[in-house]
This record gives sequence, structure tokens and C-alpha cells, in this order.
Amino acid sequence: HRHLLGIEGLSAADITALLDLADTYVEQNRQVDKKGSVLRGRTQINLFFEASTRTQSSFELAGKRLGADVMNMSVGSSSVKKGETLIDTAVTLNAMHPDLIIIRHASSGAVELLSQKVSCSVVNAGDGAHEHPTQALLDALTIRRRKGRIEGLTVAICGDILHSRVARSNILLLGAMGARVRVIAPPTLLPRGIDRFGVEVFHDMRKGLEGCDIVMMLRLQLERMSGSYVPSQREYFHYFGLDYEKLGHAKPDALVMHPGPMNRGVEIDSAVADDINRSVIREQVEMGVAVRMAVLDALARNLPNELRI
Ligand code: CP
Repeated sequence: HRHLLGIEGLSAADITALLDLADTYVEQNRQVDKKGSVLRGRTQINLFFEASTRTQSSFELAGKRLGADVMNMSVGSSSVKKGETLIDTAVTLNAMHPDLIIIRHASSGAVELLSQKVSCSVVNAGDGAHEHPTQALLDALTIRRRKGRIEGLTVAICGDILHSRVARSNILLLGAMGARVRVIAPPTLLPRGIDRFGVEVFHDMRKGLEGCDIVMMLRLQLERMSGSYVPSQREYFHYFGLDYEKLGHAKPDALVMHPGPMNRGVEIDSAVADDINRSVIREQVEMGVAVRMAVLDALARNLPNELRI
């Protein structure tokens, strides 16, 4: 079976093919009639063990717009609450013959584990601090549509890199597509060995943003900080929060991105986040539906070798 578990393993050609397909769905989603039929007769289950607004709703809309029957499994009121394990839950749902299961889980590797226990396609909607492949794809689509290319751009990923599956997937995708990637963070919020990913590391926002085309902000993931280092939010904003002064060090036409949800006034100034000339945060959300339609379409149609996801 074919799954999308991460950006790791995708080639530049695979990514380009998915983005090209997603481009067609951006146009379809802007029509009054958004309905297609490529997933007609198929069943999609969204199984989210962690909270989500954007990813879950866009996977639901994506499946429905392609004609699938979409079921949102409400984990909070499921038998997980009675102690049923992750694997038993997945195997139980698998017995209902879904064609696609979309999974979000707090543990890195949980989605891959489940993909080995079920007989349908599995899409990773975020697993711990590991990967969030559709987020990186929607970010890439946003960048490509705005800048016309990804290759050769300088992209700064800023903030809580340590806990970020978004950062990891973006580093892999942007690297594969030939962008120059910088990470800007305090040493305490960087994973050990980050240099192995071919990124340039900065601890100073102004230096790191110098000459950047894209400024990608990350949420400070307070819920994943158990004990060791929890920065004061005021201090964090002072050094690492994106305001106009720091943004002034990037290129004048640099775009501001954030995967959401945002902590306004912590990693990003509210006025910058809402600046329609600089921020593409809402566009990222729009691209999210199109990218997820492309991924579901590619998996369901079992496209030939040029799209090996
Ligand atoms: N960017 C993202 O994954 O948002 P949600 O957690 O709301 O899905």
C-alpha cells in the first residue's frame, strides 16, 4: 500500500508533481461548484489524537470535495478513553474497510507504526516532533505561487525548531527543491545535530533574516516543553518575536509565513501577522485544502511511477 508518511524519501520530481496537481485544485476550489468525483465510493477516516483546526478541517473538505465519504473519528469520545490502544483503535477502524486513514498523533513514529497494521493508505497529519508533510507541501505551494520558484530562494525558519515537525518537513522539502535554508533560534530550542540537515544556524534574528526571501515563523510549543527550558514569553518576543524592525532586515519583498495556530505577541507581532502586503498566513490555509486534495487524489488514483508517494 501507498502512504504519505513524510517528506523524507520524496524526490524533487515527486514534490513538483504534487504541487502541479495542487495548483489545479486551487482553481477548482475558487469555483462555485467545487465538487469532483475522483474519490467517489472511497471512505476516508480522519483520526486525530491531537488538537487541530487547519489540518483536520482541510482534510475533511479535501476528501468531500473529491467525492469521498469522510468520517471524523472523535478521539475524545472514543474507546481510547476506556484504555483502548492506538494499534487496537486503528485495527478496529481498518476492519470497516476505509481506503484512507489520516492520522495525527503526539508520538514521533506512531503514524508509520499504524501504517504497518492497516490495509489502506495512511497519511501523516503530524506525528510528534517528526514530520508534517502536507504542511511543508502547502508552504511550498504558497511560496512557489508567490515567488514563481523555490530553487535559489533563501528561507529562514525561526523559533521553536526543537519541537517542530513543521520545521523538519520544511527543511527536508526546501532542501530537496534547492532552496537555501536558515534556522534561527536560541540554542535551547534547536535539536542537536541540526547542521546535518544542511541548514545554516543563527541565534540572532537580525543576522539570520538578512537578505531572506521568506520568513517562516513557528509557534512556541509550550505544551511540549516539559521542565527543562520554558522561556518567558516577553523575553522570547523581545529576542525572537517577528516585528517590523526585525523584518526590516529581510528583503523588502520578503514574505511572512506561519503554519498556525499563532501565539500573537509571542513569536509574531499581531500587526505583522495581519499585514496583507507581507503576510501570506491566510493564503497558506487556502493552499492547505488544495495540497490535501492533491495528496488524496495521488494516493487514490495510484498514479504511476512519476509520483511515488
Ligand atoms: N498548521 C497546523 O497543523 O494547524 P492545526 O494544528 O490547526 O491543524
